[in-house]
Amino acid sequence: MRHRSLHKAFLAAALFGSMQAESVRAESGYEAWLRYAPVEQAARERYASLPASVVVLGDSAVLAAAQREMIRGVQGMLGKTLRTDKGQPLGRSIVLGTFESIHAVAPDFHARDLREDGFWLTTAEVQGLRCLVIAAPTERGVLYGVFAFLSKIARNESIAALDEVQQPYAPIRWADQWDNLDGRIERGYGGPSIFFDNGTVRADLSRVADYARLLASVGINGCAINNVNADPRALEDSFLPQLVRIADVFRPWGVRISLAVDLSSPQLIGGLDTFDPLDPRVGEWWRKKVDEIYQRIPDFGGFVVKADSEGRMGPSTYGRTPADAANVIAQALQPHGGVVFYRAFVYNHHLDWREPKNDRAKAAYDNFHPLDGKFADNVILQIKYGPIDFQVREPVSPLFGGLEKTNQAIELQVTQEYTGQQRHLCFLPPMWKEMLDFDLHAANYATRVKDLVSGKTFHRPTGGFVGVVNVGMDANWLGHPLAMANLYGFGRLAWDPNLSAQTIAEEWTQLTFGNDPAVRRTIEDMQLASWRIYESYTGPLGAQTLTDILGSHYGPGIESSENNGWGQWHRADHQGIGMDRSVATGTGYVGQYRAPVAKMFESVESTPDDLLLFFHHVPYTHGLHSGKTVIQYIYDSHYEGAERVADYVRKWKSLKGYVDEERYAAVLARLEYQAGHAIVWRDAICNWFLRTSGIPDAKGRVGNYPGRIEAEAMHLRGYVPVDVVPWENASGGQAVECSQRQGCSASLQFAGAAGSYEIDVQYFDQNNGESKFRISVGDHLVDEWVANDHLPATKIGGDSSTRRRITGLALRPGDEIRIEGIPDREEHAPLDYIEIRPSEE
Ligand code: GCU
Repeated sequence: MRHRSLHKAFLAAALFGSMQAESVRAESGYEAWLRYAPVEQAARERYASLPASVVVLGDSAVLAAAQREMIRGVQGMLGKTLRTDKGQPLGRSIVLGTFESIHAVAPDFHARDLREDGFWLTTAEVQGLRCLVIAAPTERGVLYGVFAFLSKIARNESIAALDEVQQPYAPIRWADQWDNLDGRIERGYGGPSIFFDNGTVRADLSRVADYARLLASVGINGCAINNVNADPRALEDSFLPQLVRIADVFRPWGVRISLAVDLSSPQLIGGLDTFDPLDPRVGEWWRKKVDEIYQRIPDFGGFVVKADSEGRMGPSTYGRTPADAANVIAQALQPHGGVVFYRAFVYNHHLDWREPKNDRAKAAYDNFHPLDGKFADNVILQIKYGPIDFQVREPVSPLFGGLEKTNQAIELQVTQEYTGQQRHLCFLPPMWKEMLDFDLHAANYATRVKDLVSGKTFHRPTGGFVGVVNVGMDANWLGHPLAMANLYGFGRLAWDPNLSAQTIAEEWTQLTFGNDPAVRRTIEDMQLASWRIYESYTGPLGAQTLTDILGSHYGPGIESSENNGWGQWHRADHQGIGMDRSVATGTGYVGQYRAPVAKMFESVESTPDDLLLFFHHVPYTHGLHSGKTVIQYIYDSHYEGAERVADYVRKWKSLKGYVDEERYAAVLARLEYQAGHAIVWRDAICNWFLRTSGIPDAKGRVGNYPGRIEAEAMHLRGYVPVDVVPWENASGGQAVECSQRQGCSASLQFAGAAGSYEIDVQYFDQNNGESKFRISVGDHLVDEWVANDHLPATKIGGDSSTRRRITGLALRPGDEIRIEGIPDREEHAPLDYIEIRPSEE
C-alpha cells in the first residue's frame, strides 16, 4: 500500500510539476483543509466540463482574492490553469461578482434575497454564454462562494446543474486570539504569536495572510488579535501604524480586525486622572481614540472588553455598571459601524469557600441579567458556553436565556485549555452542538442557544459566535495535526449550527486527508468519539475537569480546585462529591434557569448522569441512572477512557502508508504520548478516590498494577527517592531523582519467564532541562533518548509525567534491566516506574 501511495505522489508531482513544492509543504499540516490536493483520476471526469476561464466583475482586493483562490484551487486539484478575463466573459466562464455587477452584464440575472455574506452558486446566461456563476450580495459573499465551490471539488461532489444558496446563521463569526505583544500567547499551545514579537508587530506577516485565508474559507469575518488581558500599549498612538499593517493583510480576506482593550486605558495611557465611564472626559477620550483608528483602518471591527474580572480594572472602581462602561465605548464606535464585545466572564475570584451558598457559577447571570435592555445596540455580551470556564462538561450558561433586549454571542474555545492542550485529541463540535441545541425555554416556544445568540429568538440586530483560537507559529498552527478540526468546526458551526458534528468531521477529514474510505472512517470515528473519551478520564459526571486549576490547567490536580477563592469547587470529601446547586438545599444556581429547565436540574433523579455532580452532592454509593454507583463509574470510566486512547494508537497505525509520512508520524507521536498520559490521569484520579472514599474498585484494578516496578523499589545507584506533590500524580506517591552530574542508575533482575516483552519507562520531562536516559539489558544497550518534549512543567508531577515504550524485547530470567539517567540543569533525570508486559503480538 505504501508503494501505491508513493507511486501516486510521484505521478502527481510529475503531472503538476509546479505544484511539487506546494504539496510537500502541504503535508506539514500548514495548508490545513485548503490543500487542494490533486483529485483522484476516477473523479476527475466529473469536472471535465468546468469552464476554462474565470471572470471577475469588479476590481477590489476581496474579489481579486476570490479570483486567485479559484485559480489556485482548480490548478491544484484538476491541474488546469484557468484563463483570467475582466469585465465580461469571452467564452464559457466561471463568473464571480456581486448581484449588482452581474445584473449589469446580464440583465436577465435576478438577485436572490440573501443575508449579508450569503452566496448563490448557479449557472446562468451571461452575454449569451452559459456560465457558472458565483454571486452574492457582497464581495465577501463572493469569496465565500468560491471557497464553498472548491470544497465541493475537493470532496468529489458533483458541480453539475449547480443551484445552491447558502447564508450565515448570524452576522458575528469571530476568532479571538489571546496574543501578547511580547509574542507569547495566553493559553496558546501552537507556538508563539503570528502577529507580535518582542513588543512589535512582526516584520513578516505572511502567516497572518494565510491565517486570514483559513478563517475566510469557513466564513469567519472578524478577528480580535490580542489577549483579553489587554496590554494598553496596543492602543497607543505610536502602535497604530503597526495595527494598520495587520488590518491591510486581513482585508483581502474579508476579515475585520479588532482589539481587546483595557478599560482603564484613558488613565493608563491617556493622561487622564480617571477612567470613570460617566466622566465626559473619558467619553471624549474614547471618541478621539476611535476616530483616529478609523481614519487609518476604515473597516476596523471594534473592541473586546474584559473588565472587573480576574484582576482587570473595571467600572466597579467607580460604582458604575458594565452597561455604563460598554456604552461609552459603543457610542464612540457607533458612527463607524464598530461594536463592543463586553465579556460576561465577570466573577469574584476571592469567594469564601467555607460558605456553602457561595457559587461562582451564579456570577455571570447575577451580574448581567439585571442589565438586560441597558446596553447600546452595538454592544454584544460575549458569554462563555458554561457558567464556569471552558470545562470538559458544563451545563449551558443560563445567561443566554436571561437576555431578551441585549445582543449576545457565545464564546467557544478552539484552543484546548482544559481539554488536553492539543496534546490530547479532543474534537469539540459534539460538545458545542449540545450547547447550541439546548433549549433554554426562554419563551413559550423552542429557544435554542443557537437562536438566542444569533438574535433570531428576540429579534436582535446582531449577535453570534466567537471562538478563542490561539493559532501560533507551529507549522500546523495548533500543535496537533488533528486539532485544526476544531477551528474548522467552529467556523462551520458559526456559519450553520444546524450542521451535525458528523458532517463537520467528514468534511474536515476529506479536505485534510483525502477521500480514501478507510482513512476517512478511521479519522472520523476517532474525532467523533474523542470528546467523551477525554471526559471519561479527566472529569466524570459533571465534576468538571479535575485538573490543576491553579496553574497549567493540564494534568490531574484534584485538590487544586478546593479550599481557595477561585470557585471551581467539586466538594469531594470522604463521603461524597459534587456541588449542591439546587434551590431547595444548595446555592440556588438552578433557579437562574427558566422553570422547565430548572425543574430538570433541581432534583437528583431528573438530572442527567453526565451533569449530576455539577448540580448535586451525592454519596459515592449513589446509584446512577446507568445502574452503577458513582465511585464505580469513576473507576470504570477512567479505565475505559485510557483503554480507548490506547486504541487510537492501534487505529492510527492501521493508516500507515495511507497518510503522508510527515503527518502520520506527527499524529502517532501525539497519540502515543496521550496513551501514556491517559494512564497518568487514570491512576491519579482512581487512587485519589480510592484513598478518599475507602471504597475499593469492584474489579480490583485500582492499586494493583501487574508488572509495575516502582523506581524507588529498584536497586539505586545515585538516585534518591523523593515525594511527589500531590502524591497521586506519581505511582506510589514517589519518584527517584539524580543530582550527580555523571548520572545515576536504577536496576532490577528480571524474574519472569523467558519471552518477548514490552517495557514502559514512566519518567518526568520538565521544560527546564533535557536529561538523557539509557536502558540496557545486561551489557546490551536497548534504547536511549533525551527528555526534550515541551510539556507545561518545571517540576515532577502530573504535567511532566510521560513514558517511553520499548517493544519486542527478548528477556530471560535473571537478566539485569538497568536504566541510567543523566540530569540536565533543573531536571534530575526523574523516574517514576517501569512496567514489564508480555508483547502484545
Ligand atoms: C481562563 C483562562 C485565562 C483567561 C480567562 C478569560 O480563566 O485560564 O487565561 O484569561 O479564562 O477567558 O478571560
